[in-house]
Amino acid sequence: MDKQHRLAQWDRRHVWHPYASIADPPLATMIESADGVRLYTADGRELIDGMSSWWAAIHGYNHPVLNEAARGQLDRMSHVMFGGITHEPAVDLASMLVELTSAPLQKVFFADSGSVSVEVAIKMALQYWHGMGCPEKNRFLTVRSGYHGDTFGAMALCDPVTGMHEHFTPVLQRHYFAESPRCRFDEPWDDAYIENFRKLIEAHHRELAAVMLEPIVQGAGGMRFYSPEYLRQVKTLCEAYDVLLVTDEIATGFGRTGELFACDHAGISPDIMCLGKALTGGYLTLAATITTNRVSDGISKNGGVLMHGPTFMANPLACAVASASIRLLFDRPWRETVHCIEQRLLSGLAPCASIPGVADVRALGAIGVVEMKTPVDLAAVQKQFVKRGVWLRPFGKLIYTMPPYIISDDDLDLVTGAIVEVAGGVK
Ligand SMILES: Cc1ncc(COP(=O)(O)O)c(C=O)c1O
Repeated sequence: MDKQHRLAQWDRRHVWHPYASIADPPLATMIESADGVRLYTADGRELIDGMSSWWAAIHGYNHPVLNEAARGQLDRMSHVMFGGITHEPAVDLASMLVELTSAPLQKVFFADSGSVSVEVAIKMALQYWHGMGCPEKNRFLTVRSGYHGDTFGAMALCDPVTGMHEHFTPVLQRHYFAESPRCRFDEPWDDAYIENFRKLIEAHHRELAAVMLEPIVQGAGGMRFYSPEYLRQVKTLCEAYDVLLVTDEIATGFGRTGELFACDHAGISPDIMCLGKALTGGYLTLAATITTNRVSDGISKNGGVLMHGPTFMANPLACAVASASIRLLFDRPWRETVHCIEQRLLSGLAPCASIPGVADVRALGAIGVVEMKTPVDLAAVQKQFVKRGVWLRPFGKLIYTMPPYIISDDDLDLVTGAIVEVAGGVK
């Protein structure tokens, strides 16, 4: 047995993987290196990564510019505490985020993962209302089919059924859930679509600190794309009822949906925004929660301080790579690139529409989705993709791809071609 195989076997017995059994897990694919859009396995295969490592690796792997940013920072300092200390990588990145996000968003909190940035957003909203003398405003309203992370505050805002957290229901904070947005991205608007949400905010606004949702794309809760008008209506209702709006752009940020931030489709600005995943181009774990002066002033009333401070807050390595990743994005015509990917996903996946087992085919920006009528067998389907030289990780009824923006037309055709074959049941 060679070393790599022994490692994979040891991993299988001792190392937990995301949402996986430790009792009888499938053998994980051992990756030795990654470059561009390709993952190289220990047993000598090349796989085109159709997942961008879960929305993150927008520039692909082993990118010389990002490598250089990491190396340069490593030689200065890889980490230093953020309590009472600051550094250029953090200030540089924060100023870029303030510049790029809508004008009211001015104050940046660096967290160490997407889930933690959601926890921070929850704390910001609660502390804001506390500071404003309304501690009774301590519940949240969200929509079904949402996903916001795996920590307890975030779990309480995930879809109670598809949010993968049913085991914890009895201990989770109870919030309000509106129906998930029904109007598809391009569908004409009908006021009936917002009725359920309107009723809930009308009934409960006195106890609501904030509305939290994923703008435009609901990811892990079903890969659903909904109408920008829904988001505009939510924003209007939040303003009318004095409820904060938190948008979780952790998956959608940095161009993935065709706009820099998904909120830009609706032309709205939230009170609090969460960013993560592609923030560092997928190199290191870092997230940010950004808010307005109004919210920060409320939190700061009577000497209030935001009660959060992770050990690895604003890690300089991660901040330096994040700044380099954002500059790299803007050095390229990212909007045109994402648009071309969208068009190629639509044409490449179109044959799926006539496959009897397929319920729906859709694409938005650099996200392509084939929704099956019944759940797919992940292990079997993944094997078929690997056989075709493609790395995808379907879940439930969804076979989907969000490739790195640097993917070539030929590689993208290989990904969509593999999806068409696998969805069509070709072994
Ligand atoms: C919309 C959204 N919010 C939050 C998270 C949680 O981020 P992390 O996995 O970095 O904790 C995710 C992760 O998939 C996500 O898609």
